[in-house]
Amino acid sequence: MKGFIAVFAASIFVVDVYCADDTTPWCYHDPSCNDTRWPEIAGDFCNRSRQSPINIETRLVTVNESLNDFIFTNYDSTSILDDISNTGKTVKVNFKPGVQISGGGLSEAYNGLQFHLHWGNLSSVPGSEHAVDGVRTPMELHIVHIKSSFNGNTTLAVADSMGVAALGFLIEVLPNTTGQPASWNTLTNYLRNITLRDNIVNVTEGLSLNDLLVGVDRTQYYRYLGSLTTPNCYEAVVWTVFKDSIKVSADLIDKFSTMLRISNETSSQTMVNVFRRLQPVQPVSTRSSSASDTSNASKNWISLGLLALSMLLGRIY
Ligand SMILES: *[C@@H]1O[C@H](CO)[C@@H](O)[C@H](O)[C@H]1NC(C)=O
Ligand SMILES: *[C@@H]1O[C@H](CO)[C@@H](O)[C@H](O)[C@H]1NC(C)=O
Ligand SMILES: *[C@@H]1O[C@H](CO)[C@@H](O)[C@H](O)[C@H]1NC(C)=O
Ligand SMILES: *[C@@H]1O[C@H](CO)[C@@H](O)[C@H](O)[C@H]1NC(C)=O
Ligand SMILES: *[C@@H]1O[C@H](CO)[C@@H](O)[C@H](O)[C@H]1NC(C)=O
Ligand SMILES: *[C@@H]1O[C@H](CO)[C@@H](O)[C@H](O)[C@H]1NC(C)=O
Ligand SMILES: *[C@@H]1O[C@H](CO)[C@@H](O)[C@H](O)[C@H]1NC(C)=O
Ligand SMILES: *[C@@H]1O[C@H](CO)[C@@H](O)[C@H](O)[C@H]1NC(C)=O
Ligand SMILES: *[C@@H]1O[C@H](CO)[C@@H](O)[C@H](O)[C@H]1NC(C)=O
Ligand SMILES: *[C@@H]1O[C@H](CO)[C@@H](O)[C@H](O)[C@H]1NC(C)=O
Ligand SMILES: [Zn+2]
Repeated sequence: MKGFIAVFAASIFVVDVYCADDTTPWCYHDPSCNDTRWPEIAGDFCNRSRQSPINIETRLVTVNESLNDFIFTNYDSTSILDDISNTGKTVKVNFKPGVQISGGGLSEAYNGLQFHLHWGNLSSVPGSEHAVDGVRTPMELHIVHIKSSFNGNTTLAVADSMGVAALGFLIEVLPNTTGQPASWNTLTNYLRNITLRDNIVNVTEGLSLNDLLVGVDRTQYYRYLGSLTTPNCYEAVVWTVFKDSIKVSADLIDKFSTMLRISNETSSQTMVNVFRRLQPVQPVSTRSSSASDTSNASKNWISLGLLALSMLLGRIY
């Protein structure tokens, strides 16, 4: 228990010192704190040259043979999702320890912390952060991981130019149906429990990351080096944006922009258009379309045993 308290205290310290998103009032909509003000509000990282999101121009994408398949550890676990919350800026799902990715041209294994979403206004107004050939989709899912060598210390991760590995999945409308896919129906059923900011409930349904990533060929992706898309905009992210999108029926997409509030008052604004505007382009690479792994990678379970990981889950998005 002593160890627990020590780690908890350390994480509070980290939040105070490094995470403006917890202490400064950045926002998406109010002109006094929207993205045009982020450089002033949250330090000048947001005004630098390696910022995300970007428009991926496919004709400029180069092939990099080093970009191999990912190995996804515990993406198939139906008990790895911990809790789901309304942060006032997004819906975030924290992971229990054990989610990991490696391969994918990454220099080492990265431990999964959380996923969250960006969306527009109903399924008709784009809300993805990344664009491909100028096209944005209604939503985007971000799965956030940090280098396993940092043992859950997000302060170290955001100070490393490749400390964070974020997986971006564009979400498009699955036409002519409702309540599909079932995994997204299950996920969005939680939204009624987190309508106000800081509402948080445990995820108890057997839902895996693979369930949510239905239909995506995860061997095909774009790669570039960028930043967090929220303050402090740290330039610490190895971005992977998958070519395939997740298809979700419009009624489920619409729940995000109609059910959630940006503050803890029922009279506050609904949470819409929660995305950062496009930033200047960066060089993007991809693997060759014929490439496929022949090696049999072993899915070693890496025991984390780190309270720090779960304590800091909430600090990056
Ligand atoms: C993270 O690492 C920094 C630098 O080594 C250290 O000062 C800080 O206490 C660490 N934070 C946690 C939560 O361990
Ligand atoms: C932010 O506010 C400025 C006015 O200060 C406005 O020009 C800009 O369009 C706003 N951006 C967003 C994303 O709303
Ligand atoms: C952002 O950078 C631009 C170009 O370097 C500069 O003109 C502007 O003043 C900077 N804004 C802030 C708030 O730092
Ligand atoms: C190709 O990918 C590898 C692995 O991510 C990376 O180290 C290398 O810098 C990339 N090469 C180019 C030219 O982008
Ligand atoms: C969102 O869409 C609804 C329905 O079209 C509209 O009434 C509302 O004004 C929109 N909100 C914003 C912030 O654009
Ligand atoms: C979906 O329904 C519309 C009419 O509402 C129809 O025009 C369209 O062809 C249908 N698409 C598919 C893929 O069934
Ligand atoms: C969510 O809300 C529904 C209806 O209010 C309730 O039945 C359910 O138990 C709640 N779930 C959680 C996880 O709190
Ligand atoms: C949520 O899960 C934690 C354990 O992960 C448990 O201690 C807590 O009581 C649960 N909360 C509810 C409301 O069930
Ligand atoms: C709502 O948020 C404010 C701060 O923004 C806080 O002072 C207040 O206690 C919160 N109310 C509830 C019911 O959580
Ligand atoms: C991969 O594993 C399969 C069986 O698990 C084996 O038959 C095959 O030879 C292995 N391939 C390589 C390249 O090791
Ligand atoms: Zn994000």
